[in-house]
Amino acid sequence: MSQASAPGAATARAFPNLALVKYWGKRDEDLILPVAGSLSLTLDAFPTTTTVRLDPGRDQDTFELNGAAATGTAAQRVTAFLDLVRERAGATTRASVRSVNEAPTGAGLASSASGFAALATAAAAAYGLDLDTSALSRLARRGSGSAARSVIGNVAIWHAGTDDETSFAEPVPAPDLAMVVATVDCAAKAISSREAMRRTASSSPYFVAWITSTETTLTEMVAACRAGDFTRIGQITEAHALRMHGLIASTEPPIRYLQPRSIEVMDAVVALREEGVEAYSTADAGPNVAVLVRPEQAEAVAARLRDVVGPEQVRTTGAGPGAHLLSGTEVPAAAEASTEAGS
Ligand code: DP6
Repeated sequence: MSQASAPGAATARAFPNLALVKYWGKRDEDLILPVAGSLSLTLDAFPTTTTVRLDPGRDQDTFELNGAAATGTAAQRVTAFLDLVRERAGATTRASVRSVNEAPTGAGLASSASGFAALATAAAAAYGLDLDTSALSRLARRGSGSAARSVIGNVAIWHAGTDDETSFAEPVPAPDLAMVVATVDCAAKAISSREAMRRTASSSPYFVAWITSTETTLTEMVAACRAGDFTRIGQITEAHALRMHGLIASTEPPIRYLQPRSIEVMDAVVALREEGVEAYSTADAGPNVAVLVRPEQAEAVAARLRDVVGPEQVRTTGAGPGAHLLSGTEVPAAAEASTEAGS
């Protein structure tokens, strides 16, 4: 579609997802093709809301995150992503991008997933690209791999694929799931997942086994989801997360994202199971722990975890929607956004 027919501005919202079968490692850095498929639950908390507005008067994109001008890598990743969108739209006009992210950025709560899913959805609309869900998932993937899954609501499988066309996420039927998120530390992590994935691929002796075993695990997980087998979904989730953290610890020099308090939360989850409450922990590339539960048990599990990490640090979430456009809404410009940014 030509730029002349583009609406020029659009706002989209997307939610983070937590992987139940993890994505860790790329076989193509530029296209962001993963070494294996993965599967996740999109949450209904911590959304990113993003407005993209074409700005013909500028010779550079601008990116504002939570009311403050973003620079460095964050701004470069946004511009590189907009370049992809412009290339497809046959456009050259720069854009102003404003995002409000309600998750602690960089702490393993997949803020890049909600961020790039929202950006892909808003930018495609602002530049007049008419993309179906698979194409949007493929586009979001180019910003951050896990963003491919946040385009889809509830449970999504991201097919590893063999090229740009075949690597996208789609829904998987699953029973009702909820997550209790225990925030252990919301400081930005010292080593990005992108960098840590590179180190894993180049130095872990277990990397090949990780790739082959993850494909087997994924097949088993899809079967468990389709069968509505909560227990098996939980067992696979917990085992695969610890396997990923073991893999990450096997790099040279080693990397460790979990903190002593993360392990305390995981132990509390094991204790809950011994008491008959089915709960299973997972953690992405950070110290925060998410606990997979049946929705009706979320409150009981949250109450227990509050004893471990403190009352303010626990949040229950359900399954959330895929990335979507918001009509008639705009993320306010910095001057007006100061209250939201400080929250
Ligand atoms: C541990 O999607 O953030 O959360 O593709 O390099 O942007 P890039 O990585 P990213 O990695 C997420 C890794 C993970 C596991 C997962 O979400 O599957």
